[in-house]
Amino acid sequence: RSPIIVAPSLLAADFARLGDEIASISRAPWLHLDVMDGHFVPNISFGPGVISALRKHTDAKFDVHLMIDPVDPYLEATAKAGADHITVHVENAPHIHRTLQTIRALGCRPGIAICPGTPPEALSEVLDLVDIILVMTVNPGFGGQSFLESQLPKIRTLSRMIEDSGRDIVLAVDGGIDPVTAPKVVAAGARMLVAGSAVFGKPDRDSAIHALEGPFKE
Ligand code: DX5
Ligand code: ZN
Repeated sequence: RSPIIVAPSLLAADFARLGDEIASISRAPWLHLDVMDGHFVPNISFGPGVISALRKHTDAKFDVHLMIDPVDPYLEATAKAGADHITVHVENAPHIHRTLQTIRALGCRPGIAICPGTPPEALSEVLDLVDIILVMTVNPGFGGQSFLESQLPKIRTLSRMIEDSGRDIVLAVDGGIDPVTAPKVVAAGARMLVAGSAVFGKPDRDSAIHALEGPFKE
Protein backbone atom coordinates (compact mmCIF):
# COMPACT_ATOMS: atom_id res chain seq x y z
CA ARG A 1 0.00 0.00 0.00
CA SER A 2 1.23 3.46 -0.89
CA PRO A 3 1.49 5.94 1.99
CA ILE A 4 -1.39 8.26 2.82
CA ILE A 5 -0.89 11.85 1.73
CA VAL A 6 -2.68 14.57 3.70
CA ALA A 7 -3.31 17.76 1.73
CA PRO A 8 -4.46 20.56 4.06
CA SER A 9 -7.14 22.78 2.48
CA LEU A 10 -6.35 26.46 2.80
CA LEU A 11 -10.06 27.31 2.82
CA ALA A 12 -10.12 26.69 6.58
CA ALA A 13 -7.07 28.91 7.27
CA ASP A 14 -7.11 32.45 8.65
CA PHE A 15 -7.14 34.51 5.43
CA ALA A 16 -5.66 37.52 7.23
CA ARG A 17 -2.49 35.50 8.00
CA LEU A 18 -2.01 33.22 5.00
CA GLY A 19 1.81 33.33 5.09
CA ASP A 20 1.92 32.17 8.73
CA GLU A 21 -0.78 29.59 8.10
CA ILE A 22 1.12 27.85 5.30
CA ALA A 23 4.31 28.00 7.37
CA SER A 24 2.45 26.12 10.12
CA ILE A 25 1.85 23.13 7.83
CA SER A 26 5.33 22.92 6.32
CA ARG A 27 5.32 19.19 7.19
CA ALA A 28 2.66 18.59 4.50
CA PRO A 29 4.04 17.97 0.99
CA TRP A 30 0.80 19.18 -0.66
CA LEU A 31 -1.43 22.20 -0.17
CA HIS A 32 -5.04 22.04 -1.46
CA LEU A 33 -6.34 25.31 -2.89
CA ASP A 34 -10.09 25.73 -3.48
CA VAL A 35 -11.01 28.25 -6.17
CA MET A 36 -14.74 29.14 -6.02
CA ASP A 37 -16.73 31.55 -8.16
CA GLY A 38 -20.14 32.01 -6.52
CA HIS A 39 -21.71 30.45 -9.63
CA PHE A 40 -20.67 26.79 -9.95
CA VAL A 41 -20.68 26.68 -6.14
CA PRO A 42 -22.48 29.02 -3.73
CA ASN A 43 -19.34 30.59 -2.27
CA ILE A 44 -16.43 32.78 -3.40
CA SER A 45 -12.85 32.13 -2.24
CA PHE A 46 -9.70 33.26 -4.08
CA GLY A 47 -8.07 32.95 -7.49
CA PRO A 48 -4.75 32.85 -9.34
CA GLY A 49 -3.54 36.12 -7.78
CA VAL A 50 -3.55 34.68 -4.27
CA ILE A 51 -2.12 31.34 -5.45
CA SER A 52 0.79 33.08 -7.13
CA ALA A 53 1.48 35.19 -4.02
CA LEU A 54 1.60 32.00 -1.90
CA ARG A 55 3.91 30.22 -4.37
CA LYS A 56 6.93 32.17 -3.11
CA HIS A 57 6.33 31.20 0.52
CA THR A 58 6.28 27.41 0.53
CA ASP A 59 7.93 24.36 -1.03
CA ALA A 60 4.65 22.42 -0.91
CA LYS A 61 3.14 21.30 -4.18
CA PHE A 62 -0.11 23.01 -5.09
CA ASP A 63 -3.21 20.87 -5.60
CA VAL A 64 -5.66 23.36 -7.13
CA HIS A 65 -9.37 22.45 -7.12
CA LEU A 66 -11.27 24.63 -9.58
CA MET A 67 -14.97 25.03 -8.75
CA ILE A 68 -15.69 27.60 -11.42
CA ASP A 69 -17.84 27.82 -14.53
CA PRO A 70 -16.57 28.33 -17.16
CA VAL A 71 -13.25 26.74 -16.23
CA ASP A 72 -11.31 26.75 -19.53
CA PRO A 73 -10.53 30.50 -19.58
CA TYR A 74 -8.69 30.21 -16.23
CA LEU A 75 -6.49 27.16 -16.83
CA GLU A 76 -3.49 29.07 -18.12
CA ALA A 77 -3.56 31.64 -15.31
CA THR A 78 -3.85 28.82 -12.76
CA ALA A 79 -0.84 27.01 -14.25
CA LYS A 80 1.19 30.22 -14.36
CA ALA A 81 0.29 30.95 -10.73
CA GLY A 82 2.18 27.77 -9.77
CA ALA A 83 -0.32 24.89 -9.74
CA ASP A 84 1.08 21.34 -9.84
CA HIS A 85 -2.27 19.54 -9.98
CA ILE A 86 -5.24 21.22 -11.64
CA THR A 87 -8.51 19.47 -10.87
CA VAL A 88 -11.72 20.35 -12.71
CA HIS A 89 -15.26 19.06 -12.19
CA VAL A 90 -16.78 16.46 -14.52
CA GLU A 91 -20.12 18.22 -13.97
CA ASN A 92 -19.21 21.49 -15.66
CA ALA A 93 -16.74 20.68 -18.42
CA PRO A 94 -18.70 20.01 -21.62
CA HIS A 95 -15.52 19.18 -23.57
CA ILE A 96 -13.73 17.39 -20.78
CA HIS A 97 -11.13 15.72 -23.03
CA ARG A 98 -9.98 19.06 -24.36
CA THR A 99 -9.92 20.59 -20.88
CA LEU A 100 -7.81 17.75 -19.44
CA GLN A 101 -5.43 17.77 -22.41
CA THR A 102 -5.01 21.53 -22.06
CA ILE A 103 -4.04 21.11 -18.39
CA ARG A 104 -1.35 18.58 -19.34
CA ALA A 105 -0.11 20.76 -22.18
CA LEU A 106 0.30 23.57 -19.65
CA GLY A 107 2.72 21.32 -17.71
CA CYS A 108 0.37 20.39 -14.86
CA ARG A 109 -1.11 17.08 -13.77
CA PRO A 110 -4.82 16.85 -14.66
CA GLY A 111 -7.39 15.84 -12.06
CA ILE A 112 -11.11 15.23 -12.26
CA ALA A 113 -13.49 15.91 -9.35
CA ILE A 114 -16.86 14.25 -8.90
CA CYS A 115 -19.79 15.61 -6.82
CA PRO A 116 -21.86 13.44 -4.47
CA GLY A 117 -24.79 13.29 -6.93
CA THR A 118 -22.72 12.04 -9.88
CA PRO A 119 -22.22 8.29 -10.43
CA PRO A 120 -18.68 6.86 -10.73
CA GLU A 121 -19.35 5.70 -14.32
CA ALA A 122 -19.23 9.38 -15.35
CA LEU A 123 -15.44 9.05 -15.17
CA SER A 124 -15.09 5.91 -17.29
CA GLU A 125 -14.11 7.80 -20.46
CA VAL A 126 -11.42 9.97 -18.88
CA LEU A 127 -9.36 7.42 -16.93
CA ASP A 128 -6.65 7.54 -19.61
CA LEU A 129 -6.35 11.32 -19.27
CA VAL A 130 -6.26 11.98 -15.52
CA ASP A 131 -3.61 11.58 -12.84
CA ILE A 132 -5.93 12.39 -9.92
CA ILE A 133 -9.53 11.54 -9.13
CA LEU A 134 -11.06 13.71 -6.40
CA VAL A 135 -14.19 12.27 -4.81
CA MET A 136 -16.26 14.94 -3.08
CA THR A 137 -17.51 13.61 0.23
CA VAL A 138 -19.56 16.80 0.80
CA ASN A 139 -21.37 19.04 -1.67
CA PRO A 140 -18.65 21.47 -2.75
CA GLY A 141 -18.75 25.08 -1.61
CA PHE A 142 -17.94 25.20 2.08
CA GLY A 143 -15.55 23.82 4.64
CA GLY A 144 -16.72 22.26 7.88
CA GLN A 145 -19.58 20.17 6.45
CA SER A 146 -20.37 16.60 7.54
CA PHE A 147 -18.85 13.67 5.68
CA LEU A 148 -21.35 11.85 3.43
CA GLU A 149 -21.13 8.13 4.27
CA SER A 150 -23.12 7.48 1.07
CA GLN A 151 -19.95 8.18 -0.95
CA LEU A 152 -17.99 5.20 0.41
CA PRO A 153 -19.26 2.73 -2.24
CA LYS A 154 -18.26 5.22 -4.94
CA ILE A 155 -14.72 5.42 -3.55
CA ARG A 156 -14.52 1.61 -3.63
CA THR A 157 -15.86 1.49 -7.21
CA LEU A 158 -13.41 4.13 -8.42
CA SER A 159 -10.56 2.37 -6.66
CA ARG A 160 -11.41 -0.78 -8.66
CA MET A 161 -11.79 1.20 -11.90
CA ILE A 162 -8.33 2.70 -11.34
CA GLU A 163 -6.84 -0.74 -10.69
CA ASP A 164 -8.44 -2.13 -13.86
CA SER A 165 -7.12 0.80 -15.88
CA GLY A 166 -3.56 -0.14 -14.94
CA ARG A 167 -2.77 3.57 -14.65
CA ASP A 168 -1.11 5.32 -11.74
CA ILE A 169 -4.01 7.55 -10.67
CA VAL A 170 -4.14 9.10 -7.19
CA LEU A 171 -7.53 8.54 -5.55
CA ALA A 172 -8.27 11.60 -3.40
CA VAL A 173 -11.20 12.54 -1.17
CA ASP A 174 -12.37 16.00 -0.13
CA GLY A 175 -14.89 17.05 2.51
CA GLY A 176 -15.54 16.17 6.13
CA ILE A 177 -12.27 14.24 6.55
CA ASP A 178 -11.26 13.94 10.22
CA PRO A 179 -9.66 11.25 12.41
CA VAL A 180 -12.99 9.34 12.47
CA THR A 181 -13.73 9.39 8.72
CA ALA A 182 -10.12 9.07 7.51
CA PRO A 183 -9.82 5.33 8.28
CA LYS A 184 -13.10 4.69 6.42
CA VAL A 185 -11.98 6.38 3.20
CA VAL A 186 -8.54 4.79 3.42
CA ALA A 187 -10.16 1.35 3.80
CA ALA A 188 -12.26 2.15 0.71
CA GLY A 189 -9.12 2.91 -1.30
CA ALA A 190 -8.40 6.63 -0.93
CA ARG A 191 -4.73 7.63 -0.83
CA MET A 192 -4.83 11.43 -0.70
CA LEU A 193 -6.92 13.04 2.01
CA VAL A 194 -7.89 16.70 1.68
CA ALA A 195 -8.70 18.23 5.06
CA GLY A 196 -9.57 21.79 5.96
CA SER A 197 -11.09 22.13 9.42
CA ALA A 198 -9.41 18.98 10.74
CA VAL A 199 -6.01 20.65 10.16
CA PHE A 200 -6.42 24.44 10.31
CA GLY A 201 -9.08 24.18 13.03
CA LYS A 202 -6.52 22.62 15.40
CA PRO A 203 -3.82 24.55 17.24
CA ASP A 204 -1.19 21.82 16.75
CA ARG A 205 -1.03 21.35 12.99
CA ASP A 206 1.64 18.63 13.01
CA SER A 207 -0.33 16.35 15.28
CA ALA A 208 -3.55 17.16 13.37
CA ILE A 209 -1.89 16.00 10.12
CA HIS A 210 -0.40 12.96 11.83
CA ALA A 211 -3.84 11.95 13.18
CA LEU A 212 -5.14 11.75 9.59
CA GLU A 213 -2.18 9.83 8.18
CA GLY A 214 -2.63 6.72 10.23
CA PRO A 215 -1.61 3.93 10.55
CA PHE A 216 -5.20 3.09 11.51
CA LYS A 217 -6.31 0.04 13.44
CA GLU A 218 -8.54 -2.04 11.20
C1 DX5 B 1 -15.24 22.10 -0.25
C2 DX5 B 1 -13.77 22.14 -0.55
C3 DX5 B 1 -12.94 21.47 0.45
C4 DX5 B 1 -13.03 22.06 1.84
C5 DX5 B 1 -12.99 20.89 2.79
O1 DX5 B 1 -15.94 22.52 -1.36
O2 DX5 B 1 -13.53 21.52 -1.81
O3 DX5 B 1 -11.57 21.37 0.03
O4 DX5 B 1 -12.02 22.96 2.17
O5 DX5 B 1 -13.18 21.36 4.08
P1 DX5 B 1 -13.38 20.36 5.32
O6 DX5 B 1 -12.19 19.50 5.38
O7 DX5 B 1 -13.51 21.31 6.48
O8 DX5 B 1 -14.64 19.59 5.05
ZN1 ZN C 1 -11.44 21.14 -2.43
